[in-house]
Amino acid sequence: MPPRPRPRRPLAWPGALCLAALLALPPGPARAQELTDLMDGMNKAFGALIRSLLVLTAQKNDPSPALAEAAQEAAKLAEAAAQIPKSGAFPGDPAFLKLAGEALEAARAAAAAAKEKRLEGAVAALVKLHAACTACHKDFRF
Ligand code: HEC
Repeated sequence: MPPRPRPRRPLAWPGALCLAALLALPPGPARAQELTDLMDGMNKAFGALIRSLLVLTAQKNDPSPALAEAAQEAAKLAEAAAQIPKSGAFPGDPAFLKLAGEALEAARAAAAAAKEKRLEGAVAALVKLHAACTACHKDFRF
């Protein structure tokens, strides 16, 4: 007596492949969203940093409160910049990581200078930070 033919399960393979593909897929959109969220936060803090350093310090007799605010915003920027490599965007790309590092360094320098009430040092760091933002956008933002 010949062996009974095995029942065919036509959907088993494609189903398994779809599942495997889903599991193997890098979490692209979620990761990209993470970077977008970081950027939104950086954008707000960057605007506030410019306002506090370049506008408020010039408007007030006592620049101390504006510098304290600048130090806070720069610290937020440093915190966000430190998260960029962990966002999963451009994983391991040395040029991307270098620019993220430059942004982090400049934000930290701005925070330190503002905290020590060194307006010129803080503004110089702000200019460097801006250069890092625009350099990275030029090469990596589409
Ligand atoms: C290391 C690279 C890098 C640095 C540094 C960087 N960005 Fe970005 N930024 C990107 C990339 C990549 C995108 C596009 C990501 C996306 O798909 O939303 C982006 C997008 C943005 C967006 C658009 C977000 C949106 O909602 O679409 C803003 C605003 C922004 N960046 C502001 C800044 C500011 C301000 C700085 C500096 C203080 C900065 N970025 C520094 C890489 C960088």
